[in-house]
Amino acid sequence: MSLPKAELHLHIEGTLEPELAFALAARNGVTLPYADTEELREAYRFDDLQTFLNLYYELMAVLRTEADFADLADAYLARAAAQGVRHAEIFFDPQAHIARGVPMGTVVEGLWRALGRSEETHGVSTQLIMCFLRDESAESAMETLEAAKPHLDRITGIGLDSAEVGHPPVKFRAVYEAAAELGLRRVAHAGEEGPPAYITEALDILGVERVDHGLRCMEDPGLVERLVRERVPLTLCPLSNVRLRAVDVLAEHPLPAMMDAGLLCTVNSDDPAYFGGYAGDNFDAVREALGLGEERLRELARNSFEASFLEHDEERRAR
Ligand code: HPA
Ligand code: ZN
Repeated sequence: MSLPKAELHLHIEGTLEPELAFALAARNGVTLPYADTEELREAYRFDDLQTFLNLYYELMAVLRTEADFADLADAYLARAAAQGVRHAEIFFDPQAHIARGVPMGTVVEGLWRALGRSEETHGVSTQLIMCFLRDESAESAMETLEAAKPHLDRITGIGLDSAEVGHPPVKFRAVYEAAAELGLRRVAHAGEEGPPAYITEALDILGVERVDHGLRCMEDPGLVERLVRERVPLTLCPLSNVRLRAVDVLAEHPLPAMMDAGLLCTVNSDDPAYFGGYAGDNFDAVREALGLGEERLRELARNSFEASFLEHDEERRAR
């Protein structure tokens, strides 16, 4: 599906395809515990968010140099562009790299090598969103924000990801306040595996402008009403929801009901190398499994620009 669209929920580390993982492993002298790309793909059978995250963090071992991060981002941008993505707001997980001895500067400057020229090379404008790992401590998040200060000209906003249940948004109140004072935009994963109350907390305590996933809002009619009234965008990831068992099968995904309720829904790929498809593949999948017509797909594409952090003028140019 090549309808022009913005991608707003995309973890750059989740775009690491097995072929690139093996190429980077060879370049860096890293041994992966898989014989080949086929055996690695075989490992992509997840029971839930945590079993996915275990593999996601394990494979990051191959990302070591600026060139690695640049190659990773270039490969994503080429695939995204081919599927109609004109603007991408890209998450990265600095703590997962810093913990392995890869400094913030290597990650950000490496990604920027690709992002900084992406409009010319791929026709895709980009922004970077730095995520904190919610299963790490609030102090670690604050140290990460401190480490990012020399690079804030490259970073649009902050997010919150990794294992959700047991790590409510309130844990990160102080770091979100500090980020807001630095002029950073704020988003957070909430309501993927965690309860609807986490969505409310993300809005009220962290001051997020957009909710990543937000799927479980459907369990709370009062919350749905609020999200509609306040026009809070939700960045849904349908293929991810199937792979991580947030829904049993795509045909049962609540996307049509969410759109009917008046929610500002967008469709995104999350971790496309792991979940079976990029942004356009997610559009194709919901069209086929949920019978969404042309008008609904156009609405989703329009929503993606409205929900983006593009300024008004840039928004028009990208379309
Ligand atoms: N949810 C939470 N954390 C993540 C995800 C996700 O879908 N992808 C990468 N980190
Ligand atoms: Zn995500």
